[in-house]
Amino acid sequence: MTTPAQIPVTSRHGVYEILVGADIVGGLADRLDALGLPERRVVVSQSRIWRLHGRLLAKVVGRRAPILLPDGERHKTLVTVSRIYDALIRMAADRATTVVAFGGGVVGDIAGFAAATYLRGVPLVQVPTTLLAQVDAAIGGKVGVNHAQGKNLIGAFHPPSVVVADPLLLATLPRREFRSGLYEVVKYGVIASRDLFDRVADGLPAIFARTPAALNPIIVESCRIKADVVGRDELERGPRRVLNLGHTVGHALEAITRYRRYLHGEAVALGMLVAAELAVTRGVMPAADRDRLSRLVMQMGPLPALADLSAAAAIEAIRLDKKMAAGRLHMVLPLGLGSVAVVGDVTDKELTRAMRAAGLQK
Ligand SMILES: NC(=O)c1ccc[n+]([C@@H]2O[C@H](COP(=O)([O-])OP(=O)(O)OC[C@H]3O[C@@H](n4cnc5c(N)ncnc54)[C@H](O)[C@@H]3O)[C@@H](O)[C@H]2O)c1
Ligand SMILES: [Zn+2]
Repeated sequence: MTTPAQIPVTSRHGVYEILVGADIVGGLADRLDALGLPERRVVVSQSRIWRLHGRLLAKVVGRRAPILLPDGERHKTLVTVSRIYDALIRMAADRATTVVAFGGGVVGDIAGFAAATYLRGVPLVQVPTTLLAQVDAAIGGKVGVNHAQGKNLIGAFHPPSVVVADPLLLATLPRREFRSGLYEVVKYGVIASRDLFDRVADGLPAIFARTPAALNPIIVESCRIKADVVGRDELERGPRRVLNLGHTVGHALEAITRYRRYLHGEAVALGMLVAAELAVTRGVMPAADRDRLSRLVMQMGPLPALADLSAAAAIEAIRLDKKMAAGRLHMVLPLGLGSVAVVGDVTDKELTRAMRAAGLQK
């Protein structure tokens, strides 16, 4: 077994580790034993992922069949959570049961919410299988599901006991999904590490070839940045907001296209470009850094169209979002590659200008 990188994450309930390493999922059962996690283990996954990688968890599931959820964000609902409760009750799962989420962010969020609420909480292990989940969704303890009125409106904070991220699992990920996760890696670079940004920019071919040698360091570095931020602000009262770089506009783009046009990371990439335009106009970001960011985003591959969308509609969606969050519009602006600031005074006029500069219609 290779020795994985270990990144500690501080939460209200103690410290847990993110383990990153090629080929570490096969040894999961032993690791969970070593952590003293309850031996009754229930794996929650999706049939495609289970078909591709389920044999790696044979020792974890034993003779108990996994709970397989339907694929797709549209199934991230309370109905699906209920199915998990049904299965847990059928197998008479008690508090001495560990829920193992084996999948992308959708599985992690749903299974995590079930683990947070079943018997008021049972231990959870996150084994993320998408790049997005390895560097983002599986870390930080946010779990939950969507409501017809909006994304992630129902949820809880339920930190996992351990996160096990194995880059070899990403070999089977559709290229567009992989790229979507990579935009979040770029986001971490812009937020906190020019070095990470450069590593992605300079290593694109090897990263897209998904060699562990290229993937391991960028996953580790992204996890470190997320771990550091959520360790300081688990409940998102302040500092955690920096992770929302590109998300104010990104969420709006997803919403006005009814979540059909963009993958999440793609919308975030466009959102980052808008934030960078705004920052350059304000004079807080060097134009050369914005240009490097937009060059990298373009180099990574094609993004779905933007030019037919109106800035006014996007701003409308941002306002709605803001109303749901019952607060002022906070926006994260890059100050360069590797640092950001959260501002609360962005005007609609500025936003419209920046969106048009990034390619939206008036
Ligand atoms: N909790 C958090 O802090 C947090 C943070 C970011 C995102 N999220 C949530 O994460 C979700 C998005 O996650 P995602 O991008 O991982 O999407 P996803 O879970 O839908 O996975 C994307 C697709 O890839 C497939 N897949 C997963 N692993 C695979 C593999 N190894 N090989 C082949 N196919 C594989 C899935 O079946 C799915 O079809 C959203 O619901 C979002 O709200 C949560
Ligand atoms: Zn995101």
